[in-house]
Amino acid sequence: MKLLLKAVTIASAIVATPALAESWTLAPAGSHLAYGSIKKDTLGEVNSFTGLSGHVTPGGKAEVEIDLSSIETNIDIRNERMIEHVFRKAGTASLTAEFDMAEVSGLSVGETTTVDAQAVLSLSGTDVAFDAEMFVARLTETQVMVSTNDMVFISTEDAGVNAGVDKLMEIASLPGITRTVPVTARLIFNRDEEQAVVAPAPVAVTGDVKAGKKVFRKCSACHKLDEDHHSVGPSLHGIIGATAGQADGFRYSAPLKESGIVWTTETLTTFLTDPRGTIPGNKMQFPGLKKDEDITNLISYLQAEAQG
Ligand code: HEC
Repeated sequence: MKLLLKAVTIASAIVATPALAESWTLAPAGSHLAYGSIKKDTLGEVNSFTGLSGHVTPGGKAEVEIDLSSIETNIDIRNERMIEHVFRKAGTASLTAEFDMAEVSGLSVGETTTVDAQAVLSLSGTDVAFDAEMFVARLTETQVMVSTNDMVFISTEDAGVNAGVDKLMEIASLPGITRTVPVTARLIFNRDEEQAVVAPAPVAVTGDVKAGKKVFRKCSACHKLDEDHHSVGPSLHGIIGATAGQADGFRYSAPLKESGIVWTTETLTTFLTDPRGTIPGNKMQFPGLKKDEDITNLISYLQAEAQG
């Protein structure tokens, strides 16, 4: 049964968005983790956990705790037997997961996607690795729903709970309980308010705007300054103060999109000096500007353009 718990990890992992440097908290209301079991080949039952809590750090590490004592089988004595024999009074199961958030971080409100997730569940010293396809929907700007896309099947043997299941059969004089358990999960995560990305106020640079306009010729083959006008590269409209990889309608590489960089004078200077070294794997085919002066002038020009 431990494996059920893994589904939760996966789900939480999906919400781990390093790109946005945000943290998320699992909302117990609306979240639901359940598994099915079949006894004597014919008797289907659904069990669930009500005590879920979890968090996704800005670094993209998901940690979810399942209060095993919150097991709900709808029969008190059965709850107690599960806790004692299958979960061995472990208290909580913990799940950790790390996740590539490129596909999810770009979701607009109302959009959905599916992502593959990997996670590790720890219960009573047993770690189980687990893969699942998860369905993700962005409900609002600050809320994401993650659910298993299909049922996930988990073997009681892998989970190390076979002995506990044997014991349940013995106690209840049952001839058989399934050793492969279907699991489904639906988890709601709220973005933590204080973690919302705030763009630092851009520091004004005092360079030569005219000279900067000339430097921009090196960029203009690939970049326009008109809003939403993308060519080889994304539009650089309002780029100063913007978070990297967020222009609507441009397909960024994952490294750029996930960098979490906010474009300030400092970060632009670093990036334009050495685009590939600053964000390895990004797809801007440009060696960088060698002269500090060119960069200062260019940024002054971008600032002047932004002010109209
Ligand atoms: C040969 C084409 C090309 C040239 C020349 C070029 N870029 Fe880019 N640039 C790109 C591409 C493509 C991307 C998107 C990279 C990715 O998604 O990995 C990009 C991304 C960027 C970004 C990040 C945009 C965002 O929305 O986060 C900035 C800033 C940028 N370029 C500035 C410049 C500047 C300034 C110059 C000139 C000094 C320049 N680029 C020259 C192609 C180019």
